[in-house]
Amino acid sequence: MIDTDTLRQAFVHHFGGEGFVFFAPGRINLIGEHTDYNGGFVFPGAVTQGITAVIHPNQGATVNLFAADLQRRCTFDVNDSEGPADINFRYVYGVVRELIAAGVAVGGFDAVYGGDVPLGAGMSSSAALESCFAFALCTLFGGHLDRMALARIGQATEHKYVGVKCGIMDQFASMHGREGSLMRLDCRNGQFEYFPWQPKDYQLLLINSCVKHELVGSPYNERRASCERVAALAGVETLRDCSWEKLETLRPQLSDEDYRRARYVLGEVDRVLAVCEALQKDDYEEVGRQMYLTHEGLSRDYAVSCPELDFLVDEARRMGVSGARLMGGGFGGCTINLVRAELYDRFLDEVQRTYRTRFGIDCQPIPVAISDGAKRLQ
Ligand code: GLA
Repeated sequence: MIDTDTLRQAFVHHFGGEGFVFFAPGRINLIGEHTDYNGGFVFPGAVTQGITAVIHPNQGATVNLFAADLQRRCTFDVNDSEGPADINFRYVYGVVRELIAAGVAVGGFDAVYGGDVPLGAGMSSSAALESCFAFALCTLFGGHLDRMALARIGQATEHKYVGVKCGIMDQFASMHGREGSLMRLDCRNGQFEYFPWQPKDYQLLLINSCVKHELVGSPYNERRASCERVAALAGVETLRDCSWEKLETLRPQLSDEDYRRARYVLGEVDRVLAVCEALQKDDYEEVGRQMYLTHEGLSRDYAVSCPELDFLVDEARRMGVSGARLMGGGFGGCTINLVRAELYDRFLDEVQRTYRTRFGIDCQPIPVAISDGAKRLQ
């Protein structure tokens, strides 16, 4: 979380006076990648990094934003049906419009915001931004939407105003996070359970490849389209309900690409359940094994990895890390590593060195602590 004083001072500078302070986090995901829009399971947790916003209603219908990280301002009217062209501001604009459509009487407001979720790392900086404003504006303008409804506001924003047909995982995690717990969400029915995550002898470590991915205009939507084509042929609503037998029966009618995409998804749904079972037995080595299998699937069948991420995962395996895989949508971003405590420092040193030698750039370690979801700070 960034220093709120700096944001409050910026608020005084740009708009004068005090504002209310809200925060919403980014997320990690232990396992269950690209399963959310397929009605499957995901296993995310919120992190301490996130977006903080200082906000005050201004009585009018004008929204005045100052994005501290970009050092840029933007103004729009809550009734404007087009919204700003600058993609950076369409997240907040979309949230405003979706809240209004859901019956929340959002009026004008002034806001300064900024954050510390590394951009393009696959930790959902955009979901943090949507969740922060969805939660803040619903609170400040007297709305009565629950956290799941607010998560859906963020998701609808991605779909309609940004053009990414994402699932619900990121916004869900940002809204529902709980310190010290991961969550298993069944994306078919929205039911979820908290799983305490405090392994004694293991730590989670993210390593940012520092290769930036951009889901807007990326093959993310194409992956989703592949899944939907297979589900339609199988006569099920989402791939979650397609059996392995059915997929094999359909194989002659599918392009090799669509077949492999679906094979990954079916495998990943099974892997989340295998991880839950392993967790119940405190079997973290098995959790890690499943993570490596996920990476193989994401790299070979789902084709969302890249040489940098494959290298980081291979290095983790070579050094005896219990589990590693690319995390999030892919096409760059970071790996998530399950590392035995005694290996942590050695792995960190060595992987940074070998990565630099191989690619001529630095990777960035990101320590994670599992934390709470969207909240009001002051
Ligand atoms: C992005 C999307 C999520 C999810 C992941 C992949 O983060 O926003 O909905 O699909 O990719 O698991």
